[in-house]
Amino acid sequence: MCGIVGYIGAKNATPIVLNGLKRLEYRGYDSAGLAVLTNGHIEVRRDAGKLERLAALVEADPVKGKIGIGHTRWATHGEPSARNAHPHLSTDSDFVVVHNGIVENFLDLKEELTAEGAVFRSDTDTETIVHLVERYYSLEHDMTLAARRALKALKGAHGVVLMSSHEPDKIIAARIGNAGGVVIGYGDGEMFVASDIPAILEHTRRVSFLESGQMAVIRRTGVEVFTLDGQPVEPQIHTVAWDPIAAEKGEYRHFMQKEIHEQVRSLTDTLAGRVDLDEGRVRLPTLNLDEKTARKIQKIVITACGTASHAGMVGKVLIEHIARIPTELDIASEFRYRDPLVDENTVVLAISQSGETADTLAAMEEARKKGAVLWSIVNAIGSQAMRLASGCISMQCGPEIGVASTKAFTAPLVDLYLLAVLLGDLRGTLDEARRRKLVADLALVPDLAGRCLDRESEVAEVARSLKNTRDALYLGRGINMPIAYEGALKLKEISYIHAEAYPAGEMKHGPIALVDRNMPVISIAPLDPWYEKMISQVEQVKARGGVVVAVATEGDARVEGLADHIFWVPETPWLLSPVVTVIPLQMFAYHIAALRGLDVDQPRNLAKSVTVE
Ligand code: AGP
Repeated sequence: MCGIVGYIGAKNATPIVLNGLKRLEYRGYDSAGLAVLTNGHIEVRRDAGKLERLAALVEADPVKGKIGIGHTRWATHGEPSARNAHPHLSTDSDFVVVHNGIVENFLDLKEELTAEGAVFRSDTDTETIVHLVERYYSLEHDMTLAARRALKALKGAHGVVLMSSHEPDKIIAARIGNAGGVVIGYGDGEMFVASDIPAILEHTRRVSFLESGQMAVIRRTGVEVFTLDGQPVEPQIHTVAWDPIAAEKGEYRHFMQKEIHEQVRSLTDTLAGRVDLDEGRVRLPTLNLDEKTARKIQKIVITACGTASHAGMVGKVLIEHIARIPTELDIASEFRYRDPLVDENTVVLAISQSGETADTLAAMEEARKKGAVLWSIVNAIGSQAMRLASGCISMQCGPEIGVASTKAFTAPLVDLYLLAVLLGDLRGTLDEARRRKLVADLALVPDLAGRCLDRESEVAEVARSLKNTRDALYLGRGINMPIAYEGALKLKEISYIHAEAYPAGEMKHGPIALVDRNMPVISIAPLDPWYEKMISQVEQVKARGGVVVAVATEGDARVEGLADHIFWVPETPWLLSPVVTVIPLQMFAYHIAALRGLDVDQPRNLAKSVTVE
């Protein structure tokens, strides 16, 4: 969950590390710190709270050097305070570490190291790593060997970056398990390391990734990669297509608002090269799927967390309806503990923006052990979920910085539709006319999304009138039932308003008791096959005095006569309707949170990539 950055080169490391951390602050904002090697010793600056406090500290007490590391923290062990902020120094202050993950055996290690004379200055598990390195350096007199021995002593999953005043020509980085990625950036006479690409994108687009169990010795001129047993590994260098500007806020107040508006572009890019309108066919070459494999599939299990799982709920409807393959959505944190029934005829499809969510990766590992075919739909290039899968659909979103996921929700909805059409085509469940119609409908999507965005001021107006509500109920049915869950999650996570989502048909079994004149009921009622059912639900809410906010199709006079407020969406083929119905709900949550003066991009207690269990 934490963000890590390192630099080694001829420039001053301090601003490079600070800027890198700024790009990673979405990964954790409980504290921030940096360490720079200057005149033969390590200087540390760190503080609790957001990065701006660290920046102020550095301005008041500047520090310069050509090698440095930094960290933004999402606290696990030890309260979010200055003393628990990374980087952490060894007893003699000759070694320094930043870390992402949990040292599961830290209590035993701490006891051992304390008995040996190590002086612990924080409550973190991380500090054990740097004391271990110091211990092994006194035996090995070699930083690489010392780091290797220290890393092998750790239990749990880790991303680690270390440096030492004894060997000022190198940074050591390692990845063990699924605690988040470690990306190495290749510059001209300078090198970078980070937990995520945006941190280094302004300096280089040439990157390689560490696999679990690998360690890198990074010098100004290049990198050597080894396994933890010391076997050399040839790193594969990739060129990232993302534009550095994509990680800037530009004219928008918040990343979330910018990312909501980027959906027209991300949806356009999602279709580019994958939809052949002349042939009426879908192409997904990176999925490595042929007719034989497609016909063998007996079941698809979609696994994901949070927003990605809501996309998976829509995916179930799409795949079952279009390709007629039994499909389940299984929350990743539950999947792996249930001895799930998957085998070699099952596809387990993971959906993840970050590609580093610990629960999702663990579910993939579990599925692999059971022999399932592994696919993923992932945004972060080179991430673990992309590499673990035998086939992957890459979301064409560019970096998503706002903690609340928006464009990385609508892109996989379209990816899942593409997948369903491809499967239907390969398995022969679609006749040509139907296939052509399904493919032709896709071309409408970016424009339909744009028309939703054009109505932002109307949504903001409703947000103004409901910004002080304490609770909200979100209802949907069929393919738009997951949109109720997604709308409620958006409101909860950034505005801290209690919001519940229900399949609308469940209201009569209990939740309708909640409805009174103080309860806004957000009812997703576009013209889809569940429309009539939704209308009767809306009538029931109105009859009990509820305030109805409807998401409805432009020109729908029935809904207009019933609802107190309406978010209009353009008429959309129903299988694609979730892409448009969610957009006003994203804007609604955004405007409520902004009107309440909350930190939209970095909501309390959350982090963008959840790399702990
Ligand atoms: C979305 O708004 C959330 N912040 C969160 O639910 C997120 O979708 C979830 O943690 C999964 O992340 P992933 O897509 O990176 O795996």
